[in-house]
Amino acid sequence: MIRIGIVGAGAIAAVHIDSFLQFGSLCEVTAVCDTFVEKAQALITEKKLEAKAYRDVQTMVDEASLDAISICLPPNLHAKVAVEALMNNMHVIVEKPMASSLEECDQMIAAAEKNNRLLCVVSQNRWKTQLVNVKQILDEGLLGKVVHASFDSLWWRGGVYYDLWWRGTWEQEAGGVFTSHSVHYLDLMHMLFGMPKQVQAFISNINHTNSECEDIGFAVFTYEDKVVNFTSSLVSHGEKQAIVINGEKASVTIPFSVSAYNSLPNGFPEPNKELEQQIQRRYEELGNLALEGHPAQLLNFLLAIDKKEALVLDGRTGRQTIELIHAVYKSAVQQQPIDLPLGSSDPFYTKEGLVRQMPKFHAKGKSVDNFSTSKITLGRDFNA
Ligand SMILES: NC(=O)c1ccc[n+]([C@@H]2O[C@H](COP(=O)([O-])OP(=O)(O)OC[C@H]3O[C@@H](n4cnc5c(N)ncnc54)[C@H](O)[C@@H]3O)[C@@H](O)[C@H]2O)c1
Repeated sequence: MIRIGIVGAGAIAAVHIDSFLQFGSLCEVTAVCDTFVEKAQALITEKKLEAKAYRDVQTMVDEASLDAISICLPPNLHAKVAVEALMNNMHVIVEKPMASSLEECDQMIAAAEKNNRLLCVVSQNRWKTQLVNVKQILDEGLLGKVVHASFDSLWWRGGVYYDLWWRGTWEQEAGGVFTSHSVHYLDLMHMLFGMPKQVQAFISNINHTNSECEDIGFAVFTYEDKVVNFTSSLVSHGEKQAIVINGEKASVTIPFSVSAYNSLPNGFPEPNKELEQQIQRRYEELGNLALEGHPAQLLNFLLAIDKKEALVLDGRTGRQTIELIHAVYKSAVQQQPIDLPLGSSDPFYTKEGLVRQMPKFHAKGKSVDNFSTSKITLGRDFNA
């Protein structure tokens, strides 16, 4: 039985606990930690856990005999707590964004490798039927060579979202909509196409005056054989998130649709109904995932601890998304294209370098310890 500790008893912690509770034959949540210890105790009571509440991470690590911890803390604390747990021989699953800098990511990866423990980064949208089926269709070559894709990472948050103490500062949150929201879609871009060679980006803050960081941005990623345009927004009512993938033979979108053209002798398009039907049939044949989102990823983490499955999203994979985000920031600030990868001597490799170079779009004035509700949404479901 894998003994799990949850660190941070805020909004996302409940999602982790609900997921672990689905796998009661594999694991038990035996500790919950929060500086507001009453929040930890409230979660234990609400979820009917046989667990102890802790106020302090170090005490929990020292006393609770845990096999693994789930880090549901503000981003600035991810690396410190992960390294501490890994050095104490615990497996770690950490919420997105993995860390505040590439340097911190490298410290986490090194601690995991040194202690031979698993380091897993949450990116639950990899476990979505539409995404998995579209990836399979790409891998089977049904679209031909992919030449262009576009990602609409569209979200909406009210201004008060940034009143929470750790949000909306480069120091604590390490970024705005690219870091906290589009991290999901950048990971999917990486999963589908690998790492680009270059990025050119623009960021701004147009409607969240209690945040230093960006609430909108645009990036163009260049690959050897394709180009990807990426929109990242926190001002989009309806959150109509979408991915469009254009291959030489056909295009698919998520939410799922398919279109295919043949060329007339003059280059104008003629529908290729046969190929459209073939791709549609293949998509339906692939069926639905039994589990999606957090429960699916947390199950993979548990099965990897038990050596029954390979870990899908490890620290090295999680690091790539932080690299994409920080290359976007560097390009936006320097107003020029940036080549990837970013080296360890790059000013954007460290958190201090990032904080020093990024503009403060607004001064963060208002700050609250907690909201009156911990109800959150996790973005529009692809299936909706
Ligand atoms: N995967 C997703 O879809 C998703 C969704 C929401 C949040 N998140 C991520 O989860 C993390 C937490 O976000 P949240 O919305 O739950 O935040 P939150 O503020 O609601 O919860 C964080 C909790 O950590 C506690 N905390 C802060 N410092 C602490 C310390 N030193 N020791 C112990 N506890 C401490 C706070 O009191 C708070 O209760 C963030 O990294 C966020 O980006 C991921």
